[in-house]
Amino acid sequence: MKKYTGLDDITDLQELIAEARALKANPYAYEHLGKRKRLVMLFFNSSLRTRLSTEKAASNLGMDVTVMNFNSDAWKLEFEDGTVMNADTSEHVKEAAKVISQYGDVIAVRAFPTLTDKAKDESEYVISNFVKYATVPVVNMESATAHPLQALADAITITELSEKKKPKVVLSWAPHPKALPHAVANSFIGMMQKMDVELTVTHPKGYELSDATMKDTPVVYDQDEALKDADFVYVKNWSNYEDYGKVLATVDSHSSWTITDEKLGDAKFMHCLPVRRNVIVADEVLDGEQSVVIEQANNRTFSAQVVLKKILENLN
Ligand code: CP
Repeated sequence: MKKYTGLDDITDLQELIAEARALKANPYAYEHLGKRKRLVMLFFNSSLRTRLSTEKAASNLGMDVTVMNFNSDAWKLEFEDGTVMNADTSEHVKEAAKVISQYGDVIAVRAFPTLTDKAKDESEYVISNFVKYATVPVVNMESATAHPLQALADAITITELSEKKKPKVVLSWAPHPKALPHAVANSFIGMMQKMDVELTVTHPKGYELSDATMKDTPVVYDQDEALKDADFVYVKNWSNYEDYGKVLATVDSHSSWTITDEKLGDAKFMHCLPVRRNVIVADEVLDGEQSVVIEQANNRTFSAQVVLKKILENLN
């Protein structure tokens, strides 16, 4: 693997999931693979799971890790080509990416969208500039439109826990007071489209995701109908895509979309976390036995580890 910035970087998903599960069973089997190799993790936004699981994954492979919170610790980066840098940006990504490539063997980047400028977000200007100018492999730790490490962890979780050959998987929108990105939903849908599952998406009218994400995935606007006979219910908020980055109505007016025990039925509950209790999901679900969110978060380590292993094998 030369990089992992999107699901297109996966050549054989089933093999990748199987290898991730093997690493989970034996996390230190390749602890010499990353010896004297360094992962540099650049965070333009907050994180709990991504930061800690990716650091653990690198450590399991024997890598050294440097973490930088870019907004507070580094010079403010310029991404536009040809800009007269006489305002607040101090360093161009062209130099920064090349310099960081001298200190790290792999660069991982987290950079959320603006949610105000759709074209800019869809250009993936942060991560794509790192890919363009870095001279080492780049890993996406959640970009403007994609969260492929999360989606791989989700695929591992469903593979581990499914009792059926072809489970019914429902992605349900749920209310949230703030405008949230589309990245998790985009990558989860993209990942499920690669798997042998029956995928349905449900959301209120007006929260349609991009055609590029949905392809021929069915949308059922009636949440109760969509959830019928589900084996896995993945819940996530996203802001409006057409009226870009907007929240169309208050949380209270969408409170019927909050996932309760009754709505969940016999399905397993999934969420990427962090999650707002009693807004996205009722306490009874999150604290109940059908919630698999902690195991999902655990699998973040092994999704990152299998990606780093594949990248290291390509370096060595
Ligand atoms: N799911 C996820 O990416 O969690 P963090 O934002 O805490 O990294």
